[in-house]
Amino acid sequence: MSRIFMFDAYGTLFDVHSAVARAGSTLGPKAEPVSQMWRAKQLEYTWTLSLMGKAGGAAADFAALTAAALDFALARHGIADPALRESLLAAYQRLDAYPDVTPLLQALQAGGHRAFIFTNGTRGMIDAAVAAAGIGPLLAGVVTVEPVGCFKPHPDVYAHAAREAGAGAPGEITFASSNRWDVAGASACGWRAFWINRTGQPEEYPAFPPVAVRQGLAGLEAA
Ligand code: LAC
Repeated sequence: MSRIFMFDAYGTLFDVHSAVARAGSTLGPKAEPVSQMWRAKQLEYTWTLSLMGKAGGAAADFAALTAAALDFALARHGIADPALRESLLAAYQRLDAYPDVTPLLQALQAGGHRAFIFTNGTRGMIDAAVAAAGIGPLLAGVVTVEPVGCFKPHPDVYAHAAREAGAGAPGEITFASSNRWDVAGASACGWRAFWINRTGQPEEYPAFPPVAVRQGLAGLEAA
């Protein structure tokens, strides 16, 4: 039976820290804290603007918030280097895909299943990342939150993704995310959510549990 698989993009399929790893060598010992702060602020901005009802549009889409978060992280670490900023943002368009991504997508395609990306990212960002990783032919589609005007984990964006994938019921969707708060959002909406705990994080959001926790994507086609 053909099933629907949905994947979060950033952190799950693509390594968000590969931008600094690739283009941030001049950061030296500040590389790790800058990269961690960049990601943390990027997510904080999505949650803050969603709560304010001001998310979306060119001034507050995921690309704009990613740039603003990088600006904060660099400034917070006393770094003023416009060329580095541009290099890091360019690298974010071509993040490394984790090595388990292509084998799983190939297994899903071979099994007759449909795989979608479901992301906060803008269409431009995610199309670039998918093209760089060469995984486009393995996907049934890419769903972004852009038409909804808010970010994960607002329930409206999961409902939008379920409609886009043609799901008859939320439980038909098998979802994988490395972001525990995203798993909570999907679980709250009735999806079969797997937490891909790539970095050994402790459990949280116990009221909205995953159906299972995995260290990576391998074998998810049988889940
Ligand atoms: C995404 C972020 C949450 O891809 O990682 O939607």
